[in-house]
This record gives sequence, C-alpha cells and structure tokens, in this order.
Amino acid sequence: MVKIGKLNLKNPVMVASGTFGYAKEFEGLIDLKKLGAIVTKTITLKPRTGNPMPRTCETASGMLNAIGLQNEGIDDFIHEKLPYLSKIGVPIIVSISGDSADEFCELAKRLDREKGVDGIELNLSCPNIKGRGFSVKGGRLIAQDKDATYNVVKKARGATSKTLIAKLSPNVTDIVEIAEAACKAHADSVSLINTLIGMAIDIETRKPILGNITGGLSGPCIKPIALRMVWEAAKNIDRPVIGVGGIATAEDAIEFLIAGARAIQVGTANFIDPGACEKIIKGVKIWTEKK
Ligand SMILES: Cc1cc2nc3c(=O)[nH]c(=O)nc-3n(C[C@H](O)[C@H](O)[C@H](O)COP(=O)(O)O)c2cc1C
Repeated sequence: MVKIGKLNLKNPVMVASGTFGYAKEFEGLIDLKKLGAIVTKTITLKPRTGNPMPRTCETASGMLNAIGLQNEGIDDFIHEKLPYLSKIGVPIIVSISGDSADEFCELAKRLDREKGVDGIELNLSCPNIKGRGFSVKGGRLIAQDKDATYNVVKKARGATSKTLIAKLSPNVTDIVEIAEAACKAHADSVSLINTLIGMAIDIETRKPILGNITGGLSGPCIKPIALRMVWEAAKNIDRPVIGVGGIATAEDAIEFLIAGARAIQVGTANFIDPGACEKIIKGVKIWTEKK
C-alpha cells in the first residue's frame, strides 16, 4: 500500500496527465483496475481548443508536444468523463489548470463536491500556454516562481480537503525552493517533472516543426534530469514526491523509488506500449519481493 495524502494506492504506478486521456481511450488495451491511480488530462474552467498543428514531433529518445491544454472544460468533464472514470475502481486524480489563482480555486471547489474524484493535481507547469499565463513576470510558468506557486497552492488548498498534489516544472534553477513553497502552502505531495521546453526545426523549410514553435520534451531522454530533481526534492521536503519523466520500464521506476519517490507516473511510454504500466507494476512487485 502506498500513501499519498489521504490516498491509499495498491501500487506506486500511476499514469501521467495528458498521456492517457480520460482512461476510456485505453479500455481494452490494458486492465485499468491494475493501475495505482489515474491522473486525467488537465482540465480548465472553459473549453480550450489548444495550439495550432502540428502539435507533436518525435525526437531522439523522446518527443516534443505542444497540445496547449486542449480540453472540453469542467462541465463536460463532470458530466461526460467522470461517470466512467469513477466506475473503474482506482483512485482518480484530476489535473487542473487556470489563468489565475481564482480559477484554480474555483476548479478545486467544484471537484471537491464530486464523490468520484479522489485527488487533485495542480498543473502549475504546462510549458505550452505561455502568454496566456498566469504570469508571474513576463509570461513565466507558475511553477517557475516560488511566490506564485505558494499562492496558487494555498488558494486551492482552501477550496478542497481532497488530496492535493502540485505538479512542478523542470524549467527552473532550483527545484527545491519551488517544492518547499508548495509544501508550505500545504500541498499533500509534489509530482515532478513536467516537460522541458525544447524545439525542432525542419531544415528544408527552415521553419520550426511545431505550430507553437516550442514544445515540451518528454520520454527516455529526460529521465536522468527527472531522477536528479526527484532526488533533490525528496531529500529536502517532508511530503511524498511522485516521480515522472522518461519512465518506460520497471527498472526505470525502481530507480525513482530508490532516489526517494514514493510513487511514479508513466507518460510517453503509454504511446509506445499501452501495456507499459502493467509490465512496470509486475516488475516493481517482483523486485520489491526479491529485495
Ligand atoms: C502529449 C502529451 C500531453 C501532455 N499533457 C499534459 C497535461 O495535460 N497536463 C500535465 O500536467 N502534463 C502533461 N504532459 C506531461 C506529462 O504528464 C509528463 O509530466 C511528462 O511527459 C514527462 O513524463 P514522460 O517522460 O513519462 O512522458 C503531457 C505530455 C505529453 C507527452
């Protein structure tokens, strides 16, 4: 049993936000009941259409994406997605994002009333919505500023008694000061990392490949960075850390657990092998029993 805030997970393996839709997309490809928890695609108050195409591009040992938080908004989520999710029988963690602390607060308040929601992950770190920002100064991400992180977590904390997780960005100089700010505002846990800002260029057209020009880098290429940040955060804060970034095998997941993560999330690997999580769950169990 793995404890994150009020949540008791049967194993430490969750799916990462934005890489598993709202779970129905993976029905029939994987036994959903086996997952430790499901983190949904980030939702916002109002529907969003996202960024211009193309939105994804393959890179060496990873991918870039610039989806831009496309989603149908919270009303659609509660009426169309949550009934299915809440019947799966695993903890459901809903990822939320907003343009202001008040929007985060409003989303948290509404989800707090929903029985099928077990936890809330605050996406403070989406790199693909610059300019829309919550910006701290000059369009930065919330999770790039410790005061903005503190303020948003504190507002959301006041709106919900459900397990609250702050998802942090690797695009910072000092991950520890941001993790500390989230804990000071009473987040139950921090998850890290979201994607690293990157870009790719088509040498024939001499133009960026992504419609948004820049995008978030994910996959095996970011694992060493994620692992280092999890290790740094875990030894400095007194809340459970959830490790995310490049995890594709049980061995990857175990590295994160050894570095200090209490649980892990699997993202890009779901696209390559929808059965990745099942294999990771099995491999982690065998390793822990052996060791
Ligand atoms: C296509 C795509 C969409 C994503 N959408 C979201 C999202 O909506 N919210 C969020 O918090 N993270 C989102 N992420 C980031 C992942 O949850 C994860 O933090 C990141 O990809 C690193 O993990 P990975 O290397 O295992 O993919 C997205 C990642 C990808 C590849």
